[in-house]
This record gives sequence, structure tokens and C-alpha cells, in this order.
Amino acid sequence: MSFPENFLWGAATAASQFEGAWNEDGKGVSVIDVMTAGTNMKSRVITRKIDKDIYYPSHQAVDFYHHYKEDIALLAGMGIKIFRMSIAWTRIYPTGFEEKPNEKGLQFYDNVFDELHKYGIEPLVTISHFDQPLYLTETCNGWADRKVISLFEKYCRTIFTRYKDKVKYWLTFNEMNCSSRSFGGYPGVGVLNEGTTLFTQQVDNPQVRLQALHHQLIASAIAVKTGHEINPQFQIGCMIGLITYYPYSCSPEDNLQALQNKLLHNYYCSDVQIFGEYPYFVKNYWKKNDIHIKFEDNDEKILKEGTVDFVSFSYYMTTCTTVQNDKEKTKGNWVEGVKNPYLESTEWGWQIDPVGLRYALTELYSRYRIPIMVVENGLGAQDKIEVDGSIHDDYRIEYLRKHIIELEKAIEDGINVIAYTPWGPIDLISASTGEMKKRYGFIYVDLDDEGRGTFKRTKKKSYDWYKGVIESNGEILKD
Ligand code: BG6
Repeated sequence: MSFPENFLWGAATAASQFEGAWNEDGKGVSVIDVMTAGTNMKSRVITRKIDKDIYYPSHQAVDFYHHYKEDIALLAGMGIKIFRMSIAWTRIYPTGFEEKPNEKGLQFYDNVFDELHKYGIEPLVTISHFDQPLYLTETCNGWADRKVISLFEKYCRTIFTRYKDKVKYWLTFNEMNCSSRSFGGYPGVGVLNEGTTLFTQQVDNPQVRLQALHHQLIASAIAVKTGHEINPQFQIGCMIGLITYYPYSCSPEDNLQALQNKLLHNYYCSDVQIFGEYPYFVKNYWKKNDIHIKFEDNDEKILKEGTVDFVSFSYYMTTCTTVQNDKEKTKGNWVEGVKNPYLESTEWGWQIDPVGLRYALTELYSRYRIPIMVVENGLGAQDKIEVDGSIHDDYRIEYLRKHIIELEKAIEDGINVIAYTPWGPIDLISASTGEMKKRYGFIYVDLDDEGRGTFKRTKKKSYDWYKGVIESNGEILKD
């Protein structure tokens, strides 16, 4: 058997796409709460203030807040061992500035963790998943202001102390490397420059964005150190939004470009979080682009002392890169790239590449040599409900089956993968488009793109399939 006996089969979610109850029990407004719904062709709009006449998908999301018992029972029914979720910072500190945490927010997560433990499910908690308090953006331009570091530290201390006996696995920031590019400015570091309205066309100021990212890296390192002081048993990881860039051709120029893209955009943050210092290529990028990152006296020491225990990443697709500029483009997770003639794409233009997962794992493990968690993977697709109410999502099974087989091969190669948590086990809101119809789940939620529906949960065909994978520890994939 290739999967180790204690392999952590699981599933992954994020508060702003899942919980809803955006203003209940003292929760504050997060950056996502002012983002409208869009489509693949029409960008989400950042309205800055809540407009009562607009539908904001995060406001009700799929209402895990009121369905958590039912939802966790469904997840437990599949036999999952680990559940990735995030804590909404705004439930604990609504603006970020309060001195005392919001007890009702803390109680909600106590209830969720207790419910998970009832079924023997281990929580894996992302501390910040694209939903920091909007107030920080309004008053400090997000992480651009160094004082956000101490506000984040306060938030971390509160949740680490409160949940020290309930949560062992933590991730500091979701897909932190997204802020190495312009699109990460708002969701990643909460920076909203004058003139930005469309999520996909943010007005970018690289100097401000990368200084903000520096503050976030410092905050991440402080969080790791603080967490280990509060409970030495904590396992705290970093999280990469990983895009494999293949050279479009075998020309040396395309190869070099692919390598350089990968270094700068995949490893900008994880190198710092794992090695405890900025890599040469990031410093070189600053130099070439006239970016001056302000370091305070202790910053280098803080980065050195706050290195993580494991690395995690999201994996959905791969893309190509080339120096030729006449090649057909296609969409992807946050980035556009050149179409790969060997791969098929999803309806949203994301190229499906199971072998690329083994490729990514190989590269990651040979670079870092620490345990790895695959904390997101899956197929966003529209589902059809049959007249008898059943949903035959064979396409999703096929996608996941092929990826898990490659994961298994990677483990056979000797790569230390400890967990696999596919994205959105219960349908949730898409982060990039705000749509509901881009579904990832094993469990269907009756809700449409305008927020209409009963929120009823229905098992899809993939539910029993994934249950079988977990039950057999991957053995059924060999049939
Ligand atoms: C990752 C994010 O980038 O991709 C998730 O961490 C997101 O928040 C996931 O939901 C899938 O992307 P999308 O746009 O299909 O929701």
C-alpha cells in the first residue's frame, strides 16, 4: 500500500466562501464582503462600501455558520480525517483594532472544533484566507502599514491560546505568493489604491504591494514563533498558490523564462518562510525594478526565528510560458498563461494536468525536504440535477482519481506527503468569479448565482466514491 497508514485524507474550505452570516454575532466587514459576483468574462467589482441593492456572495455564502452540525456530519460520513477551514479574523476582531476579542466569534469556532473532534476529525486552520478586516484597508491601506503586524499578532495570540488543545495544524496565510503579482494586492495584502474598481484590473503600485508583503512575511514568522511558544506541539505551515510553468518550447529562452517565473512567483514567500531569509532572485527583482523594501532592525532575526514546520500548496492546473507573443492564451488560477496543446481545459479555461501534480511535488520536495500537504485540488464544474434528484459527477471523479493516482506515485517516489484536502467538499462560492455554479463539492448545495435557493445539501455520486478512496486508503484506485 503506497499511502501511509496515518495519511490525512481530508477536505478544504475558507470562511468567506463558506460560512455566510457576514454580519452576525458581532462579525466585522471583511475585504471580500464588498466584492460583487462576477463571471469568467466579467470581473468582480470592489464596491468599497456595502450597497444594499447589490448581491454580495460572501454575505450568505452557503451558510455553514448555521449548518455546521449537518455539514460536519456529512464530512464525517465520508470518513475524512482532517478538515481545512479558516477562521474569519473579523469574527474575532471585527475591525482588527479592538482590545478584546469578540466572544461570540470565538465560541462559534469552539463549537466547530468540538463538533469535528466528536467524529475524530482533526482541524487544519488557515489563519488568514483572503478576508482581512476591511477597516484595515480603509485606515491603513491594508498591510502597507506596519502596524498591521501587531494587530495580526494579537489575533494569533488570541486564537492560539484559546484553541491550543483543539487545533494542532495551522497555516498562516493562504496563497501568500499571490501578492508577488498585482492581482494579490487587494485579497492578499488588503491594498486598495485610488482608482481600483475591478478585481481583475487593480491599480497596482509594486513598491507599496511588496512592502505590504514584507510586513505580512514578518507577521507570519512572528505567528510561527508565538504559536510554538504557546504550544510546542503545534505544526505550523506555509501555503503556496502553486502554478507550474512549463516552457512552451524546448528553446533555451522559453526554459529560462519558465524557470524564472517559477522562482519569482511560486517561491517568493515560501523560500523566506522555510529558509528564514529572502532568496537572491527576490532581492534582484527589487533592484531591477527600483523597489526599496524598508527593513527594521530586527526583521532579519524575526524571519530566521519563524520558519515553518511544513509546506502546503494548492494545485489545480499548469500553464506554459514562452518568449514568443503570438501564442494562444488560456485562463488559470489567478494567472493567464499560454495554452498547452497536450492538455484539456475546464469550462473556466483551467488546464487539467494530473501528472503536473507529481511534477510539482517532486520540485517542491527536492527544494525544501520538509513534509508536504496538498491543501487544495479539484475540478470547478457545473452540475446537473437529474429528475430523481441525483447528481452524476463522473467528470469530477475522473479529475480527482487521476490526480490521486499521481499523488500516490509521488509518495512511491519517496516524497513525504502527509495530507490531501481537495477543495470545497461542500459546494461553495468561487473566489475568482464569485459564482456559485462553479462547483467543486462532493455535496451539492441548492443555491444559484444570485443567491436564490434552499441551501439544501445533496450527496453527489463523488461522495461515495471519495468515501471509498478513504476507506481503502487509496486501494480502490488500483482497480
Ligand atoms: C485558490 C483559493 O486559489 O483557489 C481558494 O485559495 C479558491 O480560495 C480556489 O476558491 C479555487 O478557485 P475558484 O476561483 O475556482 O474559487
